[in-house]
Amino acid sequence: MGRSQELYRKARKIIPGGTQLLSKRPEMFLPGLWPAYYDRAKGCEVWDLDGKKYIDMSTMGVGSCILGYADDDVNKAVKSAVDRGSMCTLNAPEEVELAELLLELHPWAEMVRYARTGGESMMIAVRIARAKSGKDTVLFCGYHGWHDWYLSSNLSDEKSLDGHLLPGLNPLGVPRALKGLTYPFNYNDTEGFLRLVEEHKGNIGVVVMEPIRNLEPDMDFIKTIRQVTNDLGIVLIVDEITAGFRLNNGGAHLLYDLEPDMAVFAKGMSNGFPMAAIIGKSDVMEVAQDTFISSTYWTDRVGPTAALATIWNIKEKNVSGHLIRTGKKMKESWKSLASSHDLNIEVSGIDPLGHFDFKYENPLVLKTLFTQLMLDKGFLASTAFYASFAHKEAHLKNYLKAADEAFGFISKSIAEGKTERYLKGPVCHSGFKRLT
Ligand SMILES: Cc1ncc(COP(=O)(O)O)c(C=O)c1O
Repeated sequence: MGRSQELYRKARKIIPGGTQLLSKRPEMFLPGLWPAYYDRAKGCEVWDLDGKKYIDMSTMGVGSCILGYADDDVNKAVKSAVDRGSMCTLNAPEEVELAELLLELHPWAEMVRYARTGGESMMIAVRIARAKSGKDTVLFCGYHGWHDWYLSSNLSDEKSLDGHLLPGLNPLGVPRALKGLTYPFNYNDTEGFLRLVEEHKGNIGVVVMEPIRNLEPDMDFIKTIRQVTNDLGIVLIVDEITAGFRLNNGGAHLLYDLEPDMAVFAKGMSNGFPMAAIIGKSDVMEVAQDTFISSTYWTDRVGPTAALATIWNIKEKNVSGHLIRTGKKMKESWKSLASSHDLNIEVSGIDPLGHFDFKYENPLVLKTLFTQLMLDKGFLASTAFYASFAHKEAHLKNYLKAADEAFGFISKSIAEGKTERYLKGPVCHSGFKRLT
């Protein structure tokens, strides 16, 4: 066992759940064998605690590092901010510069607030939207963080979050008084959305959705949502935390002529440094003066500095074009490799955020075996690939050669009916559960 796994065994005893983010749990990849901790990361290369090097062909810091790890330009800007004092009694001027840049990129928006993580910035947006509309009910589609407003959806129906976050989540600790305030609808399901509006008409203050994630939007769906929310005085929030800055220089909503009331950015905007922004129309954002929303570390200098350097690079280098091309090639290659080995997989996701599923009775066994085989060949890889600017032609070529062999092996193991026997450890987890 390497030092990384040893450290993780210790962590499981003193950190409940082992890590701070479910998607970074080694059990989600390769229980007992995933390298768990890193010593160094640069571009798309990662060194574990034993000095072993891997190429990261998975999610690049769960979608946070669009430019690649430890990007030179972003790091240079951040180091200078640290040297000049990352915290002070006075405010960081970069806050204003970043606000101007975000408003220039999103001409419909007039004001900006900041936070540091995705979930908390969604909480802020929902608070402002409820305050503005004077109504508590929220209709939502997709994942928007761990906070009470969102998890409370499972108080009315324990399956409410199944298709949006994870199946079987227990809203333990979420006050029961929040029951009946949040309801889910499915992406591109215009009729389902209209039915929900009819059911809760009069009480709905907020609609929350991602502009795009897995499927291309049906324009009727997008138009209906904007029309209905406008007609009923409902505040429309688009969550750009993961989609933003991957398809264009800004929010993906710009591509679909969708003018929301608020948009929220986080992971995609600052290349791994904590930063989040809530932008919106001034009549909505002004309400933030009437409801108390305030936190010390939302004023640090590193976040806005990193965001300015990241966005500048994304614009200058046409990074979204690179992400789309690279992700598209990966999706197409998965399909052709699978078909050449007679493997049944389903490929989905927008190009920069592609993933595939094994369409078999035991998909988690196959997923675990794929991760194991790829790790043996020096790749951090699972069934999702989030393209970054650091992923170049050669990385893809080497990955695809390894994936070709892995798919061939998996296909043979299925034909032999022996897949599970090739696993060196337990099968990976698919969702949230206790570890011990
Ligand atoms: C669309 C979306 N909203 C919200 C979040 C939560 O962000 P964070 O993990 O920074 O709290 C995520 C994170 O995966 C996300 O993808």
